[in-house]
Amino acid sequence: MHAMNNVRFEKKGAVAVVTIDRPKALNALNFETLKELQCCFYEIDMDREIGAVILTGGGEKAFVAGADIAHMQELDARAGAEFAELGHQVMSAVENLKQPVIAAVNGFALGGGCELAISCDIRIASENARFGQPEVNLGVIPGFGGTQRLPRIIGRGLAAELLFTGDMIDATEAHRIGLVNKVVLAEQLLPTCMTMAEKITSKGPVAIRLCKETMKNGLEMDIGRACRYEAVQFGQCFATSDQKEGMKAFLEKRRAEFTGE
Ligand code: CAA
Repeated sequence: MHAMNNVRFEKKGAVAVVTIDRPKALNALNFETLKELQCCFYEIDMDREIGAVILTGGGEKAFVAGADIAHMQELDARAGAEFAELGHQVMSAVENLKQPVIAAVNGFALGGGCELAISCDIRIASENARFGQPEVNLGVIPGFGGTQRLPRIIGRGLAAELLFTGDMIDATEAHRIGLVNKVVLAEQLLPTCMTMAEKITSKGPVAIRLCKETMKNGLEMDIGRACRYEAVQFGQCFATSDQKEGMKAFLEKRRAEFTGE
C-alpha cells in the first residue's frame, strides 16, 4: 500500500479496516483523499486474504462531513463534473468491491459522507451519528450518487424529503427508515462491526463474493432475468471445493474448513 496522508489502512486477520482520517476537516473528501481511497480499494479488491472491509472515520465527531467545500468553492462547470466523476469512481469502487463492506458510521455522514455510507453493503451507526444530504443549502445537488442510491435504499418519498430539505436525521431515525442496520453505543461500534465482519469471513469466501455480486447485479435487472442469473451463479458454486467441503461437513456434523477455492 502506498503512503497515504488522509487514509489509514490496517489488516486485522481477514478484515481490512479503512479509516478516513482528516479529523481537522471532519474527514471531508478532498481530491487527495478521494485518490487515496481509490488506490486503497483497488489494492483491497486484489487481495485474496481480505474477506470483509470496515470503513470508518477518524476522530470522534465525523464519519465524513461531505465533499470538501473549500476545494469545491472555486470549481467551474467542467471541474465540477470532473470532481463528481472522481467521486463516482470511488463510490462505485466501494459498491463493486469483491468483499462486503460495512460502514461504521461514527458521527456526521453528510453529503458525500452519506453517499459513501450508502455505497457500502451494510451500515452500522453509533448513537451520535447524523445523516443528511445538505447540498441544497450550498446551492448544489449531491454529486457522488445521493440522488440515485438514497431512493433505492430508503424509497423515493423519504429520499425526496432528505434531498429537498437538506435536513439532518439522527441515528434512531436513520434506523427507523432502514438507512442503517443497527445503532450501538459509540464504544461498541467497531467491536460490533468487527464481530459481523469476522462472522462473514468465517463463511465460504467464494459464496460470499458470489452473494454480493449476484445481489448487486441482479438488482439492476427485471425479476425474471435476475432469477435466471441467480440460477447460473448458484451453478458456479458447484465448481468450487468450498461447496464440496461445506456440504460434506454438514453431513459429517462438523464445522466446514473453507479454503476459498
Ligand atoms: N468541507 C470542508 N471542510 C469542512 C466540511 C466540509 N464538508 N465540514 C466541516 N468542515 C471543517 C469546517 O470548515 C471546520 O474547519 P475550521 O476548523 O478550519 O473552521 C472543521 O471542519 C470543523 O467543522 P465545524 O466547526 O463546522 O464543526 P461543527 O461541529 O460546528 O459543525 C457540521 C459540524 C454540522 C458537520 C458542519 O461542519 C457542517 O455543516 N459541515 C458541512 C456539511 C456539508 O454541507 N456537507 C456537504 C458537502 S457538499 C457535498 O458533499 C457534495 C457532494 O455530494 C459531492
